[in-house]
Amino acid sequence: MGPAAAGAGRVAMDGRFPATCALVKVPCCTRQVLCRLPAITDDRDPNDLTTYVHTYGPRLGSTPGVPPPRDSSALDLRHSMPGPRQQHSYREREATMASPVSKASANYTGTATATAHEPDPAAPVAYQRQLYAALRPPTYSTQPTQWEAAARAAVPLPNFLYTHGAAGSGETHAANRAAFARFRLRPSMLVQATRRDLSVVLFGRRYASPLIAAPIGVQETMHADAEEATARACCAVGVPMILSTAATRSIEQVAAASGVGPRWFQLYWPKPQAEDLTVSLLRRAKTAGFDVLVVTLDTFLIGWRPSDLDESYLPFLYGQGCQVGFSDPVFQRMYAAEQAKDTRTVAEKLADLWQLLKRPGTLGGAAKVLTHAAVIQKSLFFTSLVASGNYRDWNDLYTLRKYWDGPIVLKGIQTVEDAHRAIEHGIDGIVVSNHGGRQLDGAVASLDALAEIGADDRVKTSGLTVLFDSGIRTGSDVLKALALGAKAVLVGRPYIYGLAMGGEEGVKHVLNCMLADTDNSLANLGKRSTADIGRHDVRVLQQVSKL
Ligand SMILES: Cc1cc2nc3c(=O)[nH]c(=O)nc-3n(C[C@H](O)[C@H](O)[C@H](O)COP(=O)(O)O)c2cc1C
Repeated sequence: MGPAAAGAGRVAMDGRFPATCALVKVPCCTRQVLCRLPAITDDRDPNDLTTYVHTYGPRLGSTPGVPPPRDSSALDLRHSMPGPRQQHSYREREATMASPVSKASANYTGTATATAHEPDPAAPVAYQRQLYAALRPPTYSTQPTQWEAAARAAVPLPNFLYTHGAAGSGETHAANRAAFARFRLRPSMLVQATRRDLSVVLFGRRYASPLIAAPIGVQETMHADAEEATARACCAVGVPMILSTAATRSIEQVAAASGVGPRWFQLYWPKPQAEDLTVSLLRRAKTAGFDVLVVTLDTFLIGWRPSDLDESYLPFLYGQGCQVGFSDPVFQRMYAAEQAKDTRTVAEKLADLWQLLKRPGTLGGAAKVLTHAAVIQKSLFFTSLVASGNYRDWNDLYTLRKYWDGPIVLKGIQTVEDAHRAIEHGIDGIVVSNHGGRQLDGAVASLDALAEIGADDRVKTSGLTVLFDSGIRTGSDVLKALALGAKAVLVGRPYIYGLAMGGEEGVKHVLNCMLADTDNSLANLGKRSTADIGRHDVRVLQQVSKL
């Protein structure tokens, strides 16, 4: 694929975009979209197509009036990604990249141009206008609780419970949500917020909004189109997708579905004895255009999850969630070597199989085991490498550095002390996360952890990029997390419920709702830009007020 633009430069305004436009062919997902893109209003190179796509991604294919797909020629926009990593280089770049709207609105004096007083027709909140303009109820609800209900109805109960479930008593999962009720936003009035900028700069690259799709494994359990549907949806709405090591599609399949969509790779870090596998996974991710590495630190051992235990439900056992491994040449070599060590006779193998068939205690269960007999063995081998119960320590990060020259983000940080350790180890970013309450039951709510970490002076001055997840459901949740120190947030269960509800369309709908809600809430908070949000915009309630 090679960079190409059709008619890049100044073209006549079509009434939808404010100024200079570029007509570019943009391969969005499996489709190509011919789009008019709005002008870049800061000093970035307007001919840099990556800038256009990543700044204005949400408008592609998701806004009324955007022309339908027309062209199938591909365009590689990934050439201008950050180069090899240098210590702190990503931190510095974030500090120096100006926001397009902030810069434009810095000149606002109260007698601004007419444009500043006109709402941007292509802003994410346009999705709200679309829904009203339809004059009929939307196909899918706009309410997060309804997404959950729709997902429950769409898939077998154990599959739903795997996504919905949490560790232990579910206390931490509940606390994640409850914490949002304790922080309340403080809106300001008569602020000129007609035009807003949702974009954020992460690791030297501007993204269209502070929303990122969290790494979520085994998506095939929720919809047959799995991670490929998510990748297409994320590309269409301009939200970066983080691909899980526990995906039900290979790294390369997801990259192909993602098209020019920004993508990050999440590593379930194989045990030290399988270092070659780690190297191979990272090399493949890099080659396939995943530019940020997210290393999950809270799941070396899968949490105690009663709803799955009660069903003896673990999709990995039947091969689901092992596709990143199964498609890996190093894994294939390791597995072949493992099989070669198997010296059992045919009779012994049959006897073992018989024992396995008896385990479910039902004919249906035995049939399932029989049809998956070969894959069960392979899956057990893969999970023994990546969810082995073998813990890593901080010094191992130096090894990881050798294999990945881009930004490294640690997911699962919950304390100020660990945030400091991340800084000391030259890490670029952290995700303050408790895995949606799925790992340590009884742990602190993730938003409370963020409140501590985000307030810490050393964290604030270090340049460490702080991201957040666990409990984000609405636009105001996003703003609260930003106010408490997060630069961007990961959306978890909601988009997976969207996937179950309607495949690619369901994910798009959920993300569009969350983007529109965030944009709407930003306006109602009285802010022009996500960059303007700070701690003064939230107030902590000691007790949840009674209505
Ligand atoms: C079904 C499911 C699978 C998940 N799989 C992964 C995974 O493979 N890797 C990972 O780092 N986190 C995984 N997570 C955690 C999410 O990335 C994220 O931290 C969590 O969903 C945030 O909580 P929330 O869904 O309540 O917002 C998973 C979460 C769920 C619900």
